[in-house]
Amino acid sequence: MPLHSHPVLPPYRIKVVEPIPFLSPAERRRALDEAGYNPFNLRADQITIDLLSDSGTGATSAAQEAGAAEGDESYAGARSWFRFHDELRDLTGYPYLLPVHQGRAGERILFASLLKPGQICLSNTHFDTTHANVVLAGAEARNLPCPEAADLDSADPFKGNIDLVALERTLAGPDGDRVGVVLMTITNNGLGAQPVSMANLEATRELCRRHRVPFFLDAARFAENAWLVVERDPAYRDWTPRQVATRAFELADGCVVSLKKDGLSAIGGFIGLRDADLHASCEANLIATEGFSTYGGLAGHDLERLAQGVREVVEPDYLRARAASTARLARLINEAGVQTVQPAGIHALYLNAGRLLPHLSPAEFPGHSLGCQLFLDGGIRSAELGSLYLGEMDDEHRLVAPAPFELVRLAIPRRVYTDTHFEYVASVLADIAKDPERVSGYRIVSSPPLLRHFKVRLAPLAG
Ligand code: F0G
Repeated sequence: MPLHSHPVLPPYRIKVVEPIPFLSPAERRRALDEAGYNPFNLRADQITIDLLSDSGTGATSAAQEAGAAEGDESYAGARSWFRFHDELRDLTGYPYLLPVHQGRAGERILFASLLKPGQICLSNTHFDTTHANVVLAGAEARNLPCPEAADLDSADPFKGNIDLVALERTLAGPDGDRVGVVLMTITNNGLGAQPVSMANLEATRELCRRHRVPFFLDAARFAENAWLVVERDPAYRDWTPRQVATRAFELADGCVVSLKKDGLSAIGGFIGLRDADLHASCEANLIATEGFSTYGGLAGHDLERLAQGVREVVEPDYLRARAASTARLARLINEAGVQTVQPAGIHALYLNAGRLLPHLSPAEFPGHSLGCQLFLDGGIRSAELGSLYLGEMDDEHRLVAPAPFELVRLAIPRRVYTDTHFEYVASVLADIAKDPERVSGYRIVSSPPLLRHFKVRLAPLAG
């Protein structure tokens, strides 16, 4: 054993920077009040540390920007398309690739061809837009998370897995004929950023084969899932993350991918397919609604950034440093007295607000309250994943069925914040944890009928 170990270093240095705003506490209080206490209504220039999403928020590299300058904006058959295509072909092995402007456009197009009204989409957990696009296709979205996922504190390495017993029971049961697709989300964003194991992917593929159901990946964080496999499964210790990612794509019949995460770019996505007929059907829809099949709603410079981004994202040094940075933030937060969903994933940490704020009932939205306090005290923006987002309300906006947990997601943009920014986040949380009773609850003032969390307005219960 070495006498000392050095910190894990990010394999890059910073070349271009952007100032971040520092508002006074009074300015933050006014900003949040004007936003109806909904962080989605804040202006980005009112936020000091923005952990709302890891989607489209990463920093690009010099090599990506150099590629972007070479972007070929020809309407059809652009050079940039072939670069994008060849990179993804090499990574995924899929013979058919369709570019889309972001993940949900891919979901809409894929489900329109893959799912018939009345069918069921089974998943470890659907992301919210994925769920919405399944429903828009007239189908039902059903989640079958593994039982280990329900224990937020357990250190089980692959809590993102699908429940294989429930999957087999469903496929062999009375609903089996209605299952149109099994969709595995890697990593499981809806359930604590937990990874899916290769064994779980293999077993799912076998069940899908046996029951003749297509098996797809929602692979928005394909590289981060691969890294967690390398770190946590001894059988893959000697694999590169790129090899693990390629193997995961190989196990599935196709994929739908938002490249706003592991594409290391602001925009982009793709559909990968093996089936020629399904490709033809999706391509017709793509051309009618997104753009021609060699750009799919993306500019040539976007295709260039993405082609380079998917190459950089599987580099072991990059993934090791990113995972270490998130794990370090988790440690600081836990030491400050705030519990997080265990074990720490990579793209986000999930704070257990229900446990930190036991004086607030689910109807007073402890996750939302903690999120507001993070902004009021430190200018930090986060996302509630609790009863405000997932609970059931009556017509008067009263909570009738709470969410299973009251969580707050701190999403970590890629290559954007340093460990000092994260020390600041942990320090703001530590102050809240010293006196949690000062955090007030909230009530809903107005709420739209659909996609509540984006447009809901609230007011504090105290003060
Ligand atoms: N699938 C997963 C697992 C996602 O996390 C997202 C987006 C999508 C699909 C949709 O992709 O945004 O490119 O249309 N997640 C972001 C987030 C928005 O903050 O978790 P998109």
